[in-house]
Amino acid sequence: MKGVILAGGLGKRLEPLTRITNKHLLPVYGKPMIYYPIEALVEAGIKDILIVTGGNHAGEFLRLLGNGSEFGLKAINYTYQKGEGGIAEALRLARYFADNDKIVVILGDNLIEKSIKRYVDDFSKQPKGAKILLKKVNDPERFGVAEIKGSQIVKIIEKPKRPKSKYAVTGIYMYDKKVFDIIKTLKPSNRGELEITDVNNEYIKRRQMTFSVLDGWWSDCGTYEALLRANNLVARIEASLRGRRPKQSR
Ligand code: G1P
Repeated sequence: MKGVILAGGLGKRLEPLTRITNKHLLPVYGKPMIYYPIEALVEAGIKDILIVTGGNHAGEFLRLLGNGSEFGLKAINYTYQKGEGGIAEALRLARYFADNDKIVVILGDNLIEKSIKRYVDDFSKQPKGAKILLKKVNDPERFGVAEIKGSQIVKIIEKPKRPKSKYAVTGIYMYDKKVFDIIKTLKPSNRGELEITDVNNEYIKRRQMTFSVLDGWWSDCGTYEALLRANNLVARIEASLRGRRPKQSR
């Protein structure tokens, strides 16, 4: 299985932090944000990684990450997304890299507490289709939200005003090679983007979507509040690793 990290976009909700750099290069506690999804993939046993980036600061990824030796990788692959076409459009650029293999996709601003290895292993045994990871949240209207009946997801609604559940669709997606054919059929949404939620709904329609509820905390970093929360969650882990609480700022 191969890994794809989507790290494009203009990070407009984080202006002016993103005026002179890419969102995924901003710090989260002691490391640039992009380190965390790379580490999550490597920890899950994925060594073949593509980073899709874009915007005005794409060259900085190469400067920061090089060939990925810091993560125990022999190489990192990079590709460039022109404009702001959405997550599914960014993923389309991974077709040649995937080369008919299954892929694990992580949004570059999604941070998780615990290993995703067992979900990835489960998906590698899944004969076909897709798998997503859900997390119960207090503010589901900020995300794609899964409507669940019994043990099945019946539909995902992107940023619903009245969410049908508290289960957000996290930015960790696993797909078979059909994903690229599905992306070809998509039409831009109201926000002018090719939506990953439309891809997932197509797999649901085909009855080829499985899901798990993610263990441990999950945070995106798309807003000031989310970025602060992610920083604090990582700080707490680092502190517990050192066996003490984080120092209070004066
Ligand atoms: C995207 C997806 C959404 C998902 C979220 C996870 O939202 O469209 O379904 O729940 O990532 O971070 P965006 O960050 O583009 O608003």
